[in-house]
Amino acid sequence: MRILRDAAAMQRQALKWLRAGTRIGFVPTMGYLHEGHISLVHEARRRVGASGVVVLSIYVNPTQFGPKEDFTKYPRDFRRDCRLCREAGVDVVFTPSDASMYPGRDTGDYSTYVVEERLTQGMEGVSRPTHFRGVTTIVAKLFHCVLPEVAVFGAKDWQQAAVVSRMTRDLNFPVRIVVAETRRETDGLAMSSRNRYLDPEQRRQATVLSEVIGLARLEVGRSKRPVPVERLRQRLAALVATRPAARLDYIEFFHPETLQPVERVGTGTHLAMAVFFGATRLIDNGRL
Ligand code: PAF
Repeated sequence: MRILRDAAAMQRQALKWLRAGTRIGFVPTMGYLHEGHISLVHEARRRVGASGVVVLSIYVNPTQFGPKEDFTKYPRDFRRDCRLCREAGVDVVFTPSDASMYPGRDTGDYSTYVVEERLTQGMEGVSRPTHFRGVTTIVAKLFHCVLPEVAVFGAKDWQQAAVVSRMTRDLNFPVRIVVAETRRETDGLAMSSRNRYLDPEQRRQATVLSEVIGLARLEVGRSKRPVPVERLRQRLAALVATRPAARLDYIEFFHPETLQPVERVGTGTHLAMAVFFGATRLIDNGRL
């Protein structure tokens, strides 16, 4: 397994692979890898086959964090990440420096961003207004460095996956976006690098996110007609309120691809939510 730290070096390598007809699979991450990330690596491998290559990027992207968010304390453990990548059969870990990804930014001289204007308007886009501009910008840049045929994203960040798919289509990137299922702990909590911020009591109560999805499925399944959004939202918010450590940020119901909010919730509607536990903000989602 090779480690590349420079955007130009990554591009040179990717071009060599493409000239040789080698298929490139890509898993973009911010590191502090867990089983969920590794399942994305396996998915990328399945897509490109044994003769293809899998690149995993580790880059804690400063432009997708708000000024009061956890950029500086975002968990990092590069050695452990490399070990997990090696075990999972990653060919190249691409871990670019800030100077390589955002030339001139340290002196205020960086000025190009990629913005998706529709799917970013609700949910995470409301709570984290500059977040998606950072995500679409870095993903576009990473695509230019890695030149993948296929890129695998986790379904846990459902809105992110939809936004990236839209950007890929709108900007004509020749990349197939694959969205891989969320991996969960045995008690239902979606795997996330941020779970490590939770204290034991918060961790215990954090199962409420997956319980909300379960209850929503139950309510929709047993109703003969689509359920009015407000009624369902209140019912689910009441469940969150049973956990004193939890503070609900949002619960939204929408079309899974367009992310358009719905007025009535039926089978096939998608639900997404964000819940704070102290300063830690967890997200989850599911199809009803
Ligand atoms: O999902 C993430 O870890 C990040 O948002 C991503 C896609 C790697 C971009 O920084």
